[in-house]
Amino acid sequence: MHDLRLFTGTSNPELVKKIAECLGTHIAALTVTRFSDGELRVQVNESVRGDDVFVVQSGSSPVNDNLMELLITIDALRRASARRINVVMPYYCYARQDKKVRPREPVAAKLVANLLREAGASRLLAVDLHAGQLVGFFDIPVDHLYAGPIIADYLTANLPADSKKLVVSPDVGGVARTTSLAEVLGAPIAIVVKRRPEPNKSEVMEVIGDVAGKTAILFDDIIDTGGSIINAANSLIERGAAKVYAACTHPVLSGDASRRLLESPIEKVIVTDTVPLPDEKRNEKIVVVSVAGLIASAIERIHNEGSVSELFSVHWKGQQ
Ligand code: R5P
Repeated sequence: MHDLRLFTGTSNPELVKKIAECLGTHIAALTVTRFSDGELRVQVNESVRGDDVFVVQSGSSPVNDNLMELLITIDALRRASARRINVVMPYYCYARQDKKVRPREPVAAKLVANLLREAGASRLLAVDLHAGQLVGFFDIPVDHLYAGPIIADYLTANLPADSKKLVVSPDVGGVARTTSLAEVLGAPIAIVVKRRPEPNKSEVMEVIGDVAGKTAILFDDIIDTGGSIINAANSLIERGAAKVYAACTHPVLSGDASRRLLESPIEKVIVTDTVPLPDEKRNEKIVVVSVAGLIASAIERIHNEGSVSELFSVHWKGQQ
């Protein structure tokens, strides 16, 4: 059996510390420094020859630095003769650029897939890809994990059992994800139809479903500026929702998103730690649940050639 080696990039060391604790392993030594012009330099400080390496790096902000650091780390590990390089991206960056909507647009999500493969990645492990079909951008195996069950556990434990729950997709693209959560919670669904006049701006066009008197749970993959989720929450309140909760896997929370969420009618925002949340982005409405145990279980199964899909109930298999 080849040894399992866990490495962390600089994007989300707290999460990797928790993953290492779950696995009962140490984080292998790697140093990241910079040349005076800003170029990154990565040094792998222990032998990985013949090892089954897992390198964890989120595509969080600063996105381009973190991505480049990951690519250089993969290159270093490949040249150091790692047997297999499993890239763990709890948050896969550039995922929203997954199609050409207008002429002369790039498909940056595919470009990132090519870069990872070209650098030497043997496999990708990611949590809640923006769209399930992103798996097809890779010619290496992709293990796609879902944070929904962890969020469902929080909601089940913390929302009043007698509340009339309704799970709401903040856009048409998120309906499959929403349906999985709704099935687990035994709740109906509603859909907010939104349009994006330009990137990072959104407008609600319609709400499909009966929201009056319900405890609405908006469920998205990403909260970035907070625009989509806050606009959706306002529309639900206008249509008579009793309370609105929000949940997402990747709390990107750029700009003043955290303050805007705090000032919004949303009761609580349940997020995971795929993206690190510095103190200045935290507030009393934001609850962080960890995906460390889930990622650790997947790493263990991949290393031991076990099934990853068995980690999920039928509700989450092939949800997108
Ligand atoms: C896009 O379709 C995603 O699923 C999210 O809805 C989006 O990234 C959220 O962005 P923002 O918070 O800036 O509205």
